[in-house]
Amino acid sequence: MRIAPSDVLHGRFVAVATALASRNLDALLITALPNIAYLTGFFASAAAAIVTPDRITLIGDGRYADALSQRGRECPFLDVHQLRASTSYDQAVVERLLALGPSRFGFEAAHLTVSRYNFIAGALEAAGLVARLEPAHSVVEHQRATKDEWELTLMREAAGRLSEVAKCILPNVLAGRVESEIAADIDRELRRVGFQKPAFDTIVASGANAARPHARAGERRIEPGDLVVLDFGGVLDGYCTDITRTVTVGPQGQRERRVIEAVAEAQLAAFDAIRPGGAPEDVDRAAREVLGRHGMGEAFSHGTGHGLGLEVHELPRVGPRREPLEPPLAAGMVLTLEPGAYFPGWGGVRIEDDVVVTASGAEWLTNGQRVR
Ligand code: GLY
Ligand code: MN
Ligand code: MN
Repeated sequence: MRIAPSDVLHGRFVAVATALASRNLDALLITALPNIAYLTGFFASAAAAIVTPDRITLIGDGRYADALSQRGRECPFLDVHQLRASTSYDQAVVERLLALGPSRFGFEAAHLTVSRYNFIAGALEAAGLVARLEPAHSVVEHQRATKDEWELTLMREAAGRLSEVAKCILPNVLAGRVESEIAADIDRELRRVGFQKPAFDTIVASGANAARPHARAGERRIEPGDLVVLDFGGVLDGYCTDITRTVTVGPQGQRERRVIEAVAEAQLAAFDAIRPGGAPEDVDRAAREVLGRHGMGEAFSHGTGHGLGLEVHELPRVGPRREPLEPPLAAGMVLTLEPGAYFPGWGGVRIEDDVVVTASGAEWLTNGQRVR
């Protein structure tokens, strides 16, 4: 697995440390695993990290002893602690905080449970550390929304591989085949082109099932005339990709063609609406207007897209305006554009591609065949 080099990780650390200074925080406790992976290159099923102005304390357990010591060797700004078998993560966090002695530290409000918070706050108080604990909101997530060059190179490569999977799979979506068989083909292809695992449960939804945006691949046999929605992605070195293609099986009916063309037009309108500094909601509105004009506004029942990276859904959400507002678009953000139109009992269409925001607009990352 490729991991971002130490100088890239250091750049990410400096940016978070700067964000802390602007919030008058001496430290930030990080408990979200994707945020820890982003800052330290440590990918694990459990970990904690504390960012201070001059270093990051990384806490991991004995299952990852090799990876932990490798992180410590490669990154001079990482202070690595391997948990003793008799200690819990939260005890170790308390010990490190007592040693660091911050007077004002933040915790990730969206990722620290109430019981963990109570344990940490209670233990600090019992030990006499008079510190203000501040809920911090999406500090690292905001930074992750804009990819650095190392990430963009990786995500471009991943999107190219995903487009290749789409190209190989679409000709095999044939009448008589079962949804779950095609999903298994997709998962096999994802591995063949180099993805380590699927980014989510592969969706193959045929006939009336295609009217459910997140249907699971089931045992339905594909019939002539069906619309089939295929939504899949792979994880390459920690980074997710996400694509949807909709195909018709056999001769394409007029209604099927009309819906596919309207959704494709909506996706292009969304793409054309992307500009750095713009609001994600404007991109959503552009897609929604097109489908509204085609009389399919009600049939578009979800947002236009989402940020993509270490998680398959991350900032920014590309949907109608709602609180809290999304960060404005910026060059380097990677987004999906995935308008759809769904008609219960009949079927549905979704087309999804991954794009990157550029200085002047956007660039497609995936470029598989859209429709057949
Ligand atoms: N497959 C998940 C999504 O498209 O958002
Ligand atoms: Mn998808
Ligand atoms: Mn998506």
